[in-house]
Amino acid sequence: MNRIDVTNGNCVYFGKAEALLKELLPDRRVIVISDNSIDRFHHDLLAPYEYILIGQGEQAKSLITLDHLYRQLIEMGADRTSFILGIGGGITTDIAGFVASTYMRGVDFGFITTTLLGAVDASVGGKNGVNVGGFKNMVGTFSQPRFVICDASLLATLPTREFRAGLAEVIKTAILGDAELFSLLERSSFDALRSDDSLLEEVITRCVRVKASVVAEDEREGGRRRILNLGHTLAHAIEKSTSKLSHGEAVAVGLYHITRYALAEKMIAEQDAARIFALIEQYGFDTELPVERRDLLKAIEGDKKRSGDSLHIIIPTSIGSVEDRVVAFKDLEVIF
Ligand SMILES: NC(=O)c1ccc[n+]([C@@H]2O[C@H](COP(=O)([O-])OP(=O)(O)OC[C@H]3O[C@@H](n4cnc5c(N)ncnc54)[C@H](O)[C@@H]3O)[C@@H](O)[C@H]2O)c1
Ligand SMILES: [Zn+2]
Repeated sequence: MNRIDVTNGNCVYFGKAEALLKELLPDRRVIVISDNSIDRFHHDLLAPYEYILIGQGEQAKSLITLDHLYRQLIEMGADRTSFILGIGGGITTDIAGFVASTYMRGVDFGFITTTLLGAVDASVGGKNGVNVGGFKNMVGTFSQPRFVICDASLLATLPTREFRAGLAEVIKTAILGDAELFSLLERSSFDALRSDDSLLEEVITRCVRVKASVVAEDEREGGRRRILNLGHTLAHAIEKSTSKLSHGEAVAVGLYHITRYALAEKMIAEQDAARIFALIEQYGFDTELPVERRDLLKAIEGDKKRSGDSLHIIIPTSIGSVEDRVVAFKDLEVIF
């Protein structure tokens, strides 16, 4: 069995979900939290268990959904010995992880991750939570699942746009910490990754290794974990300003623009920057800013109340390494 240790006993396991569940699920009552798409495409995964379905999209990642879930769990008689299994993408696992770590002060939980973004990012690392008042992930906990199962074959039913969104996080991971993964992506293609499960599993495995090593050093994001935010300052501003782009698509725009800045500042060699630009294009991302630059700057500055007069920006310095730089809000215009 192929597995990667993350932290605090949490592991990501790669392989067929049904077989892994037989080995990993405790001999206890299991309650699944999942969404309608998973019920439609992978009903067999849910069918053996009691399950609760939640809505889709960021608006479902809310206190209202939590309230609904807690009430359902109470109605079902779930107690502290129950085990919660989140099956889905990042939205479902973020919600399931939060419900599990707060219901009756916390019950054990695990995930089957079913999106590329979830596999390489959201399901790993122990962060969970929901959005409040239009602010992303404002309420949540750090708490590690007992296991994460990554079954690449489940990703076959993902819509193309969702698959590409996940690839933005893959490219991000390669830039910040895995030059070999970057080369592998250069030699590969969108279609190859979509059709070859073992290639996809190799790519996901490499991403999980990078994330696991960063998280092991800094579980609560006091320092090093911030490097995972490469491309995300601009991405979050884009997401706040428009719903035209998904998170992954916005991350690709963020990666492109932060690399342009690094190049202008001579923090990255021309050749490395050119490779980053080419890879983003190779995987079919649009790098145009979807809204006016000044609106994006305003959106970034909107966070000022919460983060003081400056913010950390992660800047690529070569293929496989980044620098964490503190930038004053007033100097942001130079960057974006
Ligand atoms: N906790 C973390 O560390 C962390 C890190 C990154 C992102 N996130 C969060 O993850 C969320 C985004 O996750 P996502 O991109 O996985 O989105 P998602 O969970 O909304 O999934 C995308 C869509 O694909 C559908 N879907 C999922 N798996 C499918 C499958 N196998 N076949 C067909 N359809 C499927 C879902 O129903 C949904 O409609 C965001 O809310 C973000 O904040 C969390
Ligand atoms: Zn992201």
